[in-house]
Amino acid sequence: MSRKRIAVTTGGGDAPGLNAVIRAVVKAARNRFNMEVIGIEDGFEGLINTRRIVDLDREAVSGILPKGGTILGTTNRGNPFEYELKDAEGTVKTVDLSDKCMENFEALGLDALVAIGGDGSMHIAQRFYEKGMPVVGVPKTIDNDLLATDVTFGFNTAVTVATEAIDRLHTTAESHRRTMVLEVMGRDAGWIALEAGIAGGADLILIPEIPYDVDTALKYIKRRYARGSNFSIAVVAEAAKPLPHEHDNLNRRRKSDTPGTWFAGMVQKNLGVEVRHLILGHLQRGGSPTTLDRMLGTRFGVRAAELVAEQAFGRMVALQGTEVVDVPIEDAIGKQKFVDPDGQLVRTAESMGIFCGRKMDY
Ligand code: F6P
Repeated sequence: MSRKRIAVTTGGGDAPGLNAVIRAVVKAARNRFNMEVIGIEDGFEGLINTRRIVDLDREAVSGILPKGGTILGTTNRGNPFEYELKDAEGTVKTVDLSDKCMENFEALGLDALVAIGGDGSMHIAQRFYEKGMPVVGVPKTIDNDLLATDVTFGFNTAVTVATEAIDRLHTTAESHRRTMVLEVMGRDAGWIALEAGIAGGADLILIPEIPYDVDTALKYIKRRYARGSNFSIAVVAEAAKPLPHEHDNLNRRRKSDTPGTWFAGMVQKNLGVEVRHLILGHLQRGGSPTTLDRMLGTRFGVRAAELVAEQAFGRMVALQGTEVVDVPIEDAIGKQKFVDPDGQLVRTAESMGIFCGRKMDY
């Protein structure tokens, strides 16, 4: 039987642990199944232009385990099914280049594609699978908001970085008796804010799943000062939003405001205390993956190579409990996992005296 040739690609925003997955696919595919592995650069964009191909031999993946980012490059643009092309006049046209990708896939002599990416990439992977491409998916997002898997790699690193930031903010907040507001990532869900907030011992955690009562938040901070705790740390998810507020006209958000800067401004204006804010941003996505993310990435990569060997196409690896399983890619797309406002994690935070947004009387 001829040697199988498979490709790996990474799409969407990067996440610490992507290189661990690439390395594991390459090692397992080569060592156990005698497959040849190539990399397609910059997600599905690289399939439109076949020149964006690299050999993934032993040397190519040597030393990449502790590295953040992805050696294959990535993009969150360039869906081949709805590709935006600019003509000579600068007019943008949306065209379907999926057939071109199918041709390139054939021309490269590929037997399978391992597509690593978030919800958007899994959507594209499923569409290619339906067109006849043998695809296996590996889910990724630092936001941890994919329903099909208990955890995604990259999340633990993001939470670890955010927790360290809270630790550092604590010492300066205490020294200056300030309220520090830290805004963390999570496009739609509050997982990073909630877990880092608990782990870092924050005083307030504001997440999109619990639209927060501004008055109660302000009273909570005021009471802390009154009781002699001369500082407060608020962790605000980038998608957090306040409940509609009776003073909305007075406190309308400016275009330049983010959820964190707006909340910081509210505290400063209403309590007259010194406030500083910080948007942690892409620091949460950069740098070396934690042990947990290296482990999860490696386990996902090995299982993805096994699925290719089993010809279990249209499947995506996922962590359920302690086991890496596989689910139909189709079942995983468009389904997000949100923090349960009445669940154990929020209860844990509130039991620790952390304000999580609910209206209360003090
Ligand atoms: O989905 C991952 C994520 O980091 C979100 O937390 C954040 O909202 C978004 O991506 C940022 O995207 P970009 O890197 O394109 O600015």
